[in-house]
Amino acid sequence: MNITPNIVILTGAGISAESGLETFRGSDGTWNKYKVEDVATPEGFARSPDLVNNFYNKRRHDAANARPNKAHLALAKLEKNFPHSFLLVTQNVDDLHERAGSKNVLHMHGTLNHVLCLTCHKRAEWKGDVTAESICPHCHAKASLRPDIVWFGEIPFYMEKIEKALSQADIFAAIGTSGLVYPAAGFVGLARQAGAECFEINLATNPATYELFDEVISGPATKTAPDFVDNLIAKYSQVTD
Ligand code: APR
Repeated sequence: MNITPNIVILTGAGISAESGLETFRGSDGTWNKYKVEDVATPEGFARSPDLVNNFYNKRRHDAANARPNKAHLALAKLEKNFPHSFLLVTQNVDDLHERAGSKNVLHMHGTLNHVLCLTCHKRAEWKGDVTAESICPHCHAKASLRPDIVWFGEIPFYMEKIEKALSQADIFAAIGTSGLVYPAAGFVGLARQAGAECFEINLATNPATYELFDEVISGPATKTAPDFVDNLIAKYSQVTD
C-alpha cells in the first residue's frame, strides 16, 4: 500500500549555483567579496544604506537574469505529485523556485523582490533598484525602504510553520546548503526527532553534517535532484507529470 509521505525540502544557494547565481561560502563566494557585517546586518544598513541597497540591487539583477535549472524544476514536479503533503523551505532570496513552477515556497530569509518600509512597516513588491530616492508605495515616505531580507541577528520568517512541518515529516532533504547557518542548520535534527528519513543532496560531502543524514547524495543538483525526485515519485505514488 502506498502511503502519502509528508515531505519537507530545504534548499540553499547551491541549488541556484548552476543557474549562475553565486553561493556564499564557495571559493568565489559572496562572503569572500563582502563582509557580512557590512551588507547583511541591520547595523551595516544603518551605517550605509546605499552600500547595502546596491549589494541587493546587484543580486536582484543577477536573479532576474538567471533561469531556473533542472533541480528547481524537479522540486516543482515533486510538489505537483504530493500537493497536500509537501513543503519547500528555502534560504534563498531569488525567485527561481517560483519561476520553475513551485507554488508553496517559504522564503525563510526573505526575498529580493520585496522591500520593507521603515516608516509604515509595510512590505511591497519591488523589482527594480532601491535607492535613496525610492518612495514607499504605501505611505510615500522617501529613503525609507530596506531590502525585505532577514539579516544576521534577525529572526527568520515562518519558523512556527516550518517547525510544525518538520515535526510531522516522513522525508527531509537538504539540497545545496552548507548547513552552517542556524536555524536552518538545525532542521535535520528536528526531522530526525520526528523519525523522518533524512537526505543530504550536495555537490560535495559535507563534513559538518555528514553524520546527521541517513543518506548523502553527492553531485551537482541538476543531476542529483531530478533523480532523487523520480525515485521518490516511483516509490510513493503513481502520479506522473
Ligand atoms: N549542486 C549542489 N550543491 C552545490 C552546488 C551544486 N551545483 N554548488 C554548490 N553547492 C553546495 C556547496 O557545497 C555548499 O554546501 O551548496 C552549498 C552552499 O553553501 P552556502 O554558500 O553556505 O549557502 P547556504 O547554505 O545557502 O547559506 C545559508 O547563509 O549567508 C547566509 O543568508 C545566507 O541563506 C544563506 C545562508
